[in-house]
Amino acid sequence: MKIAMVGTGYVGLVSGVCFSDFGHEVVCIDKDPRKIEMLMRGEVPIYEPGLEAVMARNVAAGRLSFSGDLAAAVAGADAVFIAVGTPTRRGDGHADLSYVMAAAEEIANALTGYCVIVTKSTVPVGTNRQVAEVVSKANPSAEFDVASNPEFLREGAAIDDFMRPDRVVVGVESERARAVMADIYRPLFLREFPIVYTDLESAEMIKYAANAFLAAKITFINEMAMLCEKVGADIKAVSKGMGLDGRIGNKFLHAGPGYGGSCFPKDTNALARIGQDHASPCAITETVIEVNDRVKRRMVDKLVDLCGGSVNGKTVAVLGVTFKPNTDDMREAPALTIVPALVGGGAKVRVIDPQGRREGEHLLPGVDWVEDPYAAATGADALVILTEWNEFRALDLAQLAQSMATPRLADLRNIYPPEDVRQAGFEAYVAVGRRGFGLGS
Ligand SMILES: NC(=O)c1ccc[n+]([C@@H]2O[C@H](COP(=O)([O-])OP(=O)(O)OC[C@H]3O[C@@H](n4cnc5c(N)ncnc54)[C@H](O)[C@@H]3O)[C@@H](O)[C@H]2O)c1
Repeated sequence: MKIAMVGTGYVGLVSGVCFSDFGHEVVCIDKDPRKIEMLMRGEVPIYEPGLEAVMARNVAAGRLSFSGDLAAAVAGADAVFIAVGTPTRRGDGHADLSYVMAAAEEIANALTGYCVIVTKSTVPVGTNRQVAEVVSKANPSAEFDVASNPEFLREGAAIDDFMRPDRVVVGVESERARAVMADIYRPLFLREFPIVYTDLESAEMIKYAANAFLAAKITFINEMAMLCEKVGADIKAVSKGMGLDGRIGNKFLHAGPGYGGSCFPKDTNALARIGQDHASPCAITETVIEVNDRVKRRMVDKLVDLCGGSVNGKTVAVLGVTFKPNTDDMREAPALTIVPALVGGGAKVRVIDPQGRREGEHLLPGVDWVEDPYAAATGADALVILTEWNEFRALDLAQLAQSMATPRLADLRNIYPPEDVRQAGFEAYVAVGRRGFGLGS
């Protein structure tokens, strides 16, 4: 199959690379010339484990290329995927569809024969029909179908998720479009990964419902964590005891500083708006958004408590700022709430992140970037573990405690058992959903 991928960000690039690995001929398009130049030089503009090797292999095989010329890539394509951003629209929480509709119009003008226009971006119910209208209006003689093919990959595990998905969801309305989509995903079908064919609206809903459910699961455990702290329970034990129930499952049951990232915040907001617009409020999702904001803000209170009531004049070392490990993505990361609050409170903040610096430097003004956790801790008044990169999972706690001015630890990912922290020489400790010690000192 000949495929054009419009939008070469986290989703477009991974999808394009993986489709080429399936054996299809793929051109990835982006309107950001710097991105395309980098890709043409063989450089990967994002951090995603394993991506570079699969990309290089398919470029070398002549199946994968990068271009800024949308018209040339779309001409003669069997399918054109729209994988542009759908961020939260300023002011009202809706998904901003301007990039999707602009892409649809450009695609319309470049069509040369029958083609399936596939929306991979996460879009509200009804968007695929709107895309069809935009295309027909821009090019009344265009021969095309639309298809909804929401993406479920996780940053940090994107290649594996794409190649070994729990399921692929395809919303189509014609047999012809279905046949094209079946050809594209044939390698997965042959390996018996489930492919769910449905209508456009259901496909669009599946993506929002799935993300809202996962965000609710995380938020539920974060709320339980707050209660555990009050009643003296340990959320780690509670999560384990709950997660062993097959109906609940142990995934997304790790308490932490609140969900962030490129998807959950904007998708929960968009779903809440969709519900309101259709006079069918998604009350659970609305509450999830509210509780998650509270959870993030509560982390700041924890750090202030850890520093004895004020962070003013204190040196705080923050380990990890990306919204999760194995990505350089900073979108809606809890660090964007927590670090500015520390800086605003008068703290001197040192930050270390294995991949977050490139993005984080613009987003976190007034912090010092360091390369090594031990250097970050030296002379500091508090150490905060914010993102659970592997690099931060086996630290020499005693060495850290010894080098700090006041050895205080906020383990916001519950990596280290409190007994180990105490034994290592820390005088104060807070975590999420378990009792801390040494507070108020
Ligand atoms: N990031 C994820 O983990 C993830 C997972 C599943 C679904 N999604 C969804 O996929 C979509 C894309 O997300 P992303 O994280 O890849 O976004 P992104 O911001 O990383 O990438 C979007 C890219 O589209 C390009 N673009 C915008 N308009 C264009 C146009 N008219 N022509 C060519 N290029 C254009 C931008 O320059 C950018 O490079 C969103 O709807 C998102 O919700 C994301």
